[in-house]
Amino acid sequence: MTELTLTTKNVDRIQADAVVVAVGQRGEEARLVPGAELPSGVAKELSGLLPALGVTGKVDEVVRVAAGKDLAADVLVLTGVGPVDDDGPDLETLRRAAGAAVRTLAGTADVALALPADTPERVGAVSEGALLGAYSFDRYRAQHRAPVARVELVTDLARSKAAKAAHARAVVVADAVAGVRDLVNASPSDLYPESFAEEATAAAKGTKVKVSVLDEKALESGGYGGLIGVGKGSARPPRLVKLSYSPARAKAHVALVGKGITFDSGGLSIKPAKGMETMKMDMAGAATVLHTVLAAAALELPVRVTGWLALAENMPSGTAQRTSDVITIRGGKTVEVLNTDAEGRLVLADALVAAGEESPDTIIDIATLTGAQMVALGSQVGAVMGTDDAREAVVAAANEAGEQFWPMPLPAELGESLKSQVADLSNMGDRFGGMLVAGLFLKEFVGDTPWAHLDIAGPAYNEGKPRGYTAEGGTGTGVRTLLTVLERTATR
Ligand code: BES
Ligand code: ZN
Ligand code: ZN
Repeated sequence: MTELTLTTKNVDRIQADAVVVAVGQRGEEARLVPGAELPSGVAKELSGLLPALGVTGKVDEVVRVAAGKDLAADVLVLTGVGPVDDDGPDLETLRRAAGAAVRTLAGTADVALALPADTPERVGAVSEGALLGAYSFDRYRAQHRAPVARVELVTDLARSKAAKAAHARAVVVADAVAGVRDLVNASPSDLYPESFAEEATAAAKGTKVKVSVLDEKALESGGYGGLIGVGKGSARPPRLVKLSYSPARAKAHVALVGKGITFDSGGLSIKPAKGMETMKMDMAGAATVLHTVLAAAALELPVRVTGWLALAENMPSGTAQRTSDVITIRGGKTVEVLNTDAEGRLVLADALVAAGEESPDTIIDIATLTGAQMVALGSQVGAVMGTDDAREAVVAAANEAGEQFWPMPLPAELGESLKSQVADLSNMGDRFGGMLVAGLFLKEFVGDTPWAHLDIAGPAYNEGKPRGYTAEGGTGTGVRTLLTVLERTATR
């Protein structure tokens, strides 16, 4: 992990390989955005040279120039923050600009950030962005460009209590997001329900989070027909992992439920090869729940949090569930499986029922649930459905955390399409509004508890180029939003 420290040192005297400053856009013009103070000669000279250097200040632009003799560092790095007014860049823009710079500087050992960091919030945002941008996944290859080893964030607030707290929180958040990315990026031959449960158990060791694991026998006798049905085509049996963080004097009890399909081939309703390529990421929801619970414990939030990881591998085989099979979800509702590729809702149904049995104040589930989510909102915006209060709490938390989540309805009339001729309901409904249909299916298993359902099919995985603090592959989207929900619950 990249080490990040706060410092009040003068920028010109910092012995780093590179010093990063922000450049924004004012109308047509690129402008240096004040952060930690540069020697006035350097700032002046640089400002005049920006057009000639081809620097525009647009977001995700990172340009390196020689630092010159007035700085102890070798290289000056200009990172774009886009259009700016007198207020300066917003927090998410700062995260992305810091992340883009540190990501681009992989292979460099020591980096100093002279970005705007004049409030504790900005210190937190720059820290978070830098650490998120430093992430790289090298489990299966000899590292080509090592992530930046050390980052110094230059700020007058280095000794302020609030800034130190913001920095410490950023470290916890970045660790959690990196944990999710590592799990999502892992090969599905290495990460399957049993090994996922073991990793969860190991990760919780020495923390205040208790872990219990239901294996296939316990699931069978517990009536978890969704997990058993989805998992039975695989040689790797399913698991249900329960994580409990129960601080004394908890303000509320929040249950988090994650879809953990370690590989989604579609089952007998098999996916085309193209559609299967990224399906190791179908456990992103469960990974998000695991690391959010661990982060809540690390931050000692005064909220009771119970995490549920619904883990199964969806494979076709002679023992796989068939289309038209009828299964019984925990609690007794029956489902006719008309498409084995709509498996996420089946494992989530079991876990939602289990979560509800403890009567939490709120249930939030997170899942790479439908391709329709990407049709509706694209690859970078997540969807939130559910009861009004819980849904709006998630949307507000996302805005605060810098993640994009958009509210979506659950129109009752669409639920009609989930009727089955033989069972209580079917797992397939109208193709149009498929994301909402999936949400309506889940709703059947929630009862009266305030509930939010997050569909992260698009934003969980970056199939495109790296951008801002986001690498290729697993993104960790959802951790920051869920953690902020828990923090807001704690301060209510
Ligand atoms: N895991 C997929 C959804 C998905 C698709 C996530 C693409 C990320 C990217 C899910 O299990 C699935 O296959 N859903 C089906 C449901 C349909 C059969 C009702 C879908 O969306 O096509
Ligand atoms: Zn599927
Ligand atoms: Zn799936």
